[in-house]
Amino acid sequence: MVSIIGASTTKFGELWGTSPRQLAREAVEGALADAGIDQKKVDALFVANMLAGPLAGQQHLGPFFAEELGLHVPAFTIEGACASGGLAVHAAVNAITSGQYEIMVVLGVEKMTDHKPEDVATALMGAGSDEERLSGATFPGLYALLARSHMEKFGTTQEELASIAVKNHFHASLNTNAQFHNTLTVEDVMKSSKVADPITLLECSPISDGAAAVVLTKSRKGVRIVASEVATDTLGLAQRKSLTQLLATQEAASHAYKKAGVGPNDIDVAEVHDCFTIAEILAMEDLGFYKKGKAARAIARGETSLPDSGNPRDSRNRRLVVNPSGGLKGCGHPVAATGIKQMVELVHQLRGTAGKRQVAGARVGLAQNVGGSGATAVVHILKKNYDLRFTN
Ligand code: COA
Repeated sequence: MVSIIGASTTKFGELWGTSPRQLAREAVEGALADAGIDQKKVDALFVANMLAGPLAGQQHLGPFFAEELGLHVPAFTIEGACASGGLAVHAAVNAITSGQYEIMVVLGVEKMTDHKPEDVATALMGAGSDEERLSGATFPGLYALLARSHMEKFGTTQEELASIAVKNHFHASLNTNAQFHNTLTVEDVMKSSKVADPITLLECSPISDGAAAVVLTKSRKGVRIVASEVATDTLGLAQRKSLTQLLATQEAASHAYKKAGVGPNDIDVAEVHDCFTIAEILAMEDLGFYKKGKAARAIARGETSLPDSGNPRDSRNRRLVVNPSGGLKGCGHPVAATGIKQMVELVHQLRGTAGKRQVAGARVGLAQNVGGSGATAVVHILKKNYDLRFTN
């Protein structure tokens, strides 16, 4: 069984004065220190990154960061758009399970704010289909189509969409590493400028810098990865049969639940890919936490919030807490670092070291990381190690 024995993340945000090398060093040194492992023991490095090639002209990131970190080991770059981090963890789990490597460092790093916003938007669209890119679509625009479809089919409202940003900004306000610490009201979100109708500025994940790293090995120590599954779908939305579900998430989740021997009702805490508010609603339904068309109202009722969120109904009927880190919306979205930051958050939740964001009694966690508009989905299920003698 592969476990996460070390986990660390840098602050996420507009980090003008910090280079990618510094971000990577801080995250990896933090994860190794957390694991109590000397870097000489590391057998291989996987680097998750999406944008360094198109934005900064450097794509040979395995040896680039191995050299920077003083790790003279096999090193690889793994790219899967915004799901790069989750994919890298998946690949590392398989590399350890196969016996190829014993101790691996998986780093996700992204530096987005040093570049012009239009260049970032174009580079992000490298994850879209040819027809989407050539027609000038952007990810806010594509997710706006998903939001409209959900609103038309299930009556999902603008207020319900906005309530997801309110929840995730509240969670982020408790996370010192998050990009945003300001809380929001539904009115703030709805009044913010429209980016792609119906999606407003405050419903978008931001442009961010940041890095996160985990140390993986076969061990009884740490938090166990009990399932790691990947599925794919068409790159473009036009080729999909339905715009109100992400089939790759459904497929990866169903394999993951089977592998882990658990179901949606067993999950205590989840980090899901809320790149836009509609994405969290789709995730909640596609992961089986709610029936289709039922998630938005439940989230607006506070069923997936940490307590004391300011929502008067928040403590009633809580099912599971979703995106306690603040999610992509509140914590920030340095794209390839996100999937690994989700793991770091779940490790803290399952160890019981998440501080003000702690989900009481969390034992089973789920991470869902999405690339593009759902062309790649990665689902991990993590379990607390019950044997306290071996828990970090
Ligand atoms: N949430 C909250 N606040 C945000 C924000 C966001 N997503 N994006 C920007 N802001 C804030 C900034 O901090 C800034 O505040 P300040 O004036 O107090 O400093 C203000 O809004 C304007 O910021 P600016 O950088 O000029 O925004 P922008 O208009 O260039 O970009 C978006 C806004 C929404 C277009 C941009 O964040 C974006 O493209 N997000 C989506 C990223 C994406 O597609 N990722 C991949 C997902 S699949």
